[in-house]
Amino acid sequence: MKTRRMAPRALLCSNGWPLLTGNGVRNPLSLSIDLAYKVGRVAFQSVRAPRFTQEHNMRQVIWAAAAIAALAVTGPAMADGPIIIKFSHVVAADTPKGKAADKFKELAEKYTDGKVKVEVYPNSTLYKDKEEIEALQLGAVQMLAPSNSKFGPTGIKQFEAFDLPYLLPDLNTLRKITNGPVGAKLLTLLNDKGMTGLAYWDNGFKQMTANKKLVKPEDYQGLKFRIQSSKVIDAQFRTLGAIPQVMAFSEVYQALQTGVVDGQENTWSNIYTQKMNEVQKYATVTNHGYIGYVVVVNKKFWDGLPPDVRANCEKAMKEATEFGNGQSAKENEDALAEIKKAGKTEIVTLTPEQDEAMRKAMMPVYKDVASRVGQALIDEILKETGRGPIN
Ligand code: SIN
Repeated sequence: MKTRRMAPRALLCSNGWPLLTGNGVRNPLSLSIDLAYKVGRVAFQSVRAPRFTQEHNMRQVIWAAAAIAALAVTGPAMADGPIIIKFSHVVAADTPKGKAADKFKELAEKYTDGKVKVEVYPNSTLYKDKEEIEALQLGAVQMLAPSNSKFGPTGIKQFEAFDLPYLLPDLNTLRKITNGPVGAKLLTLLNDKGMTGLAYWDNGFKQMTANKKLVKPEDYQGLKFRIQSSKVIDAQFRTLGAIPQVMAFSEVYQALQTGVVDGQENTWSNIYTQKMNEVQKYATVTNHGYIGYVVVVNKKFWDGLPPDVRANCEKAMKEATEFGNGQSAKENEDALAEIKKAGKTEIVTLTPEQDEAMRKAMMPVYKDVASRVGQALIDEILKETGRGPIN
């Protein structure tokens, strides 16, 4: 497995803000909208302003771009070209999500005979975690695969149920849930937010890393942990007496390196491809949670595709999903082997008693987040896992 981090932004071709018309036709104002967005984004990011102000300004740029986009919808159409699907994601290409995205590109272009061109932008080269969902809703990109943990800020809190600690014993159980009525019902929640959910993609199970050896619940006391924007993960670390800090995935390596945070939780493939193992002395095998993705498209874009194109893209998505989910576990195993080989991180294995103590310490989270995620949903998922309600 090779590592690839952070392709330089300046090398990216960001041409086109395609398909705001929703009919598969490029819009003449697309280039300027995208450019305005990019220029504004870079300008605001470089301003020495407090984080809150920067985020506020960023939102203004996004909405300004959206306003121009709204005008563009009524504009005349340009000559036909391939339909562009911009697929933005935040991890390395050499990960379960990165490989599934590349497979979708290959198959969608093949099955549509080139009527569709998929541009995959890995490693947050286009947008970071939170921005990418806003960009999708506005039509600046067409496809994403954010983790379940990142939908909370859109108002959809239910996907955070997958963050409950020690919820899933294995990937087969997960599959039963996502392929069944619960998974289908969750996808419908996206529609009101301008998104269509197409598939569930795996990454794998999370492990804990830090510069301190983490063996028992008390070891987490007072440590700062980077987390994704999930209130369930927030509750998990607070239950352990740690201090959670929401941070974009692209910023984690540096935050660990500089000591802004003490640790983080992630899958082996994410840890390895972001080189986190180079700046973390210990990684504890906890498998305490799961990282998986919801593949989403801009709903207007998707509904506006010619039916034959959409059908072929759906076929490509189905096959890319089977491909990705079929190799995610192996990807993570390979990444762990590479981390061991690199020899910079001590891999800590818990005894059954230590594992049990961790599970017990995290159980209060189920109650803490029940009103946010929904007790009925939690119970439905627990039933699928073969466990009864947790009180
Ligand atoms: C991802 O796998 O997409 C990112 C996970 C994270 O933000 O930790």
